[in-house]
Amino acid sequence: METIHKIPRHIAIIMDGNGRWAKERGMARIFGHQNGVDTIREIVRAARELGVKYLTLYAFSKENWSRPKNEIAFLMNLLSQFLDSELKELEENQIRFNAIGKLEELPREVREKIKRNMERTAKNDQLVLTLALSYSSRVEIIDAIKRICEQVKQGKLNPEDVSEASFSKELYTTGIPDPDLLIRTSGEMRISNFLLWQISYTEIYVSEKYWPDFKKSDFLEAIRVYGTRERRFGRAETTPLAQ
Ligand code: IPE
Ligand code: IPE
Ligand code: MG
Repeated sequence: METIHKIPRHIAIIMDGNGRWAKERGMARIFGHQNGVDTIREIVRAARELGVKYLTLYAFSKENWSRPKNEIAFLMNLLSQFLDSELKELEENQIRFNAIGKLEELPREVREKIKRNMERTAKNDQLVLTLALSYSSRVEIIDAIKRICEQVKQGKLNPEDVSEASFSKELYTTGIPDPDLLIRTSGEMRISNFLLWQISYTEIYVSEKYWPDFKKSDFLEAIRVYGTRERRFGRAETTPLAQ
């Protein structure tokens, strides 16, 4: 097997296509979500094995609240079960669990399990697994601006001192480096309000596979392709891939 040399430090994934996967099989959308959980497990394991340090999964957007009530209820239930079923494996594999987004909009039971999982895995240092839940990048940016305005109002911050670095610290992703690789499944060529600030120089890879069909081999292929990309960061000359 071909050895992979360039492992992205941070991989972000827009897990898309569950509904279409189910529809193709004549099943309700929720079956796609159910099967998508197996893919999450497989990809988290693969990321951990490969030595990826940060994995950020877009699981539920702010805009997804406008889906039918029964689909939302199913997704929240699935999330709640997932938070229980995966905790042991996260602990055993030294994976730190994290969540970003408007978590206060989630059902109380889910919020409590998120908090528990974050606390129980806080000291783990092999991989940071972040779920984006009730997440909107625009809301994240607006929230950061509000916090900065508040600091200025209180005389704690001079507007001249607002920089890219200080702004990044006010985002939900504070402490997490920008993604090196963004994967979207199901062939859609769009960002759907995910990590707009953070992906300025991220390499993008779109897989035609629906999320429940996305396997470890597809993940490895995305990483292999990433390794062939020349990241220029606006410069003219060839620069080695940032690790
Ligand atoms: C992604 O699959 C899961 C969530 C957004 C929660 P979709 O549910 O968007 O599936 P498609 O895109 O309709 O096929
Ligand atoms: C993006 O997928 C959100 C998640 C994967 C959680 P969507 O299916 O909601 O995005 P659009 O509607 O196709 O842009
Ligand atoms: Mg979709």
